[in-house]
Amino acid sequence: MLRGSNVLLCVTGSIAAYKSSFIIRLLVKAGANVQVIMTQASKEFVTPLTLGTLSKNPVLTDFVKNSDAGVWNNHVDLGLWADFILVAPATANTIAKMAHGEADSFLLATYLSAKCPVYVAPAMDLDMYQHASTKDNLFLLEERGNIIIKPKYGELASGLVGEGRLAEPEEILAFLELSLAAGKPLVGKKILVTAGPTHESIDPVRFIGNRSSGKMGFAIAEAIAEQGGEPILIAGPTSLESSAEIKRINVESANEMLAECKNVFSDVDAVIMAAAVADFTPIQKQIQKIKKADSKMSIALKPTEDILLYLGNHKKEQVLVGFAMETENGLENAKKKLKSKNLAFIVYNSLNEKGAGFQHDTNKIVIIDQHNKITNFELKSKQEVANDIIDELIKYF
Ligand SMILES: Cc1cc2nc3c(=O)[nH]c(=O)nc-3n(C[C@H](O)[C@H](O)[C@H](O)COP(=O)(O)O)c2cc1C
Repeated sequence: MLRGSNVLLCVTGSIAAYKSSFIIRLLVKAGANVQVIMTQASKEFVTPLTLGTLSKNPVLTDFVKNSDAGVWNNHVDLGLWADFILVAPATANTIAKMAHGEADSFLLATYLSAKCPVYVAPAMDLDMYQHASTKDNLFLLEERGNIIIKPKYGELASGLVGEGRLAEPEEILAFLELSLAAGKPLVGKKILVTAGPTHESIDPVRFIGNRSSGKMGFAIAEAIAEQGGEPILIAGPTSLESSAEIKRINVESANEMLAECKNVFSDVDAVIMAAAVADFTPIQKQIQKIKKADSKMSIALKPTEDILLYLGNHKKEQVLVGFAMETENGLENAKKKLKSKNLAFIVYNSLNEKGAGFQHDTNKIVIIDQHNKITNFELKSKQEVANDIIDELIKYF
């Protein structure tokens, strides 16, 4: 949900300001672009150097960047750049000024210029939070559509115990994810995605693998998260990284992938099998490295258990989506697979198309549904292809 979004983090002068570094790390890990505005007071608590380094962007505090050269920081542009603003921690002072339209700091002027959603996470001492003025100010902000991330009950910096503690960074991120997902078509849907190759061990150093990079499956998992769904990504060996919002289970072999799919299958609403699972595996894995020899050698293979067939035979309400990658008679084989594996639809990609299939950042697909309706798509980036597949899947919910 946060991947690729522009987040303006506003940090104010609370003792909890140090927690903003953890918030930035979590936002960046989730794939967000983060710009930080600090109030003058907040710099007493945490340094711009820390927040600038973590956010990978210069921290802004003042209207004027270079007065001699007449260069200023454009609060209007920044307000428009942001997909949402997060004020965390938000002091009683800043909350009061936001509620009353004051614009005597760069943070406040940017807030007034912005049209995006604004999240406010108050942090203050018990009595400041309980004060009627603070309550009224928060009420005013909420009434105008700002979203308040309520502080927690707990030990406060003053030594008092009560409400006013900044929500923990993980709680703030979870709140954002949930709030941003609201209204998205895949909210509440758990979707299993498999991706990448499998490696079938021959001996401790060698394996039988294939050329799958995992890019297509990873893009599908990200697209699910963007539409508010909960992807569970079972990934074969690949160096690809996935964002924090994706639950990822790493496996090596076809057998391990099958076991993990069986584990989660009853709990998911759909499965997209994008992994290139080995069809054969050595009958015996040698315990010791096979020694080099001049004579011929052969490895006896046995078929692996067909994961998609297993899922097709055991499915209840789940929507099953398969992939077909063929070098000949592609469409015909894809149609057969669609029926034999009891799939809702199948995504066919041909290795003969330029720029499509393994390793590439692009793919060209054909979707065939149960009524044999065939939809051809242009060559597109794997992210765009993933969106097309998810758009098709959404029809089945
Ligand atoms: C040690 C210390 C801790 C503070 N902690 C908080 C706090 O958690 N919440 C708060 O509203 N104000 C707190 N204040 C007061 C603010 O720093 C003060 O109101 C300041 O003007 C806020 O400015 P700003 O909203 O522009 O950042 C604290 C002050 C000090 C000296």
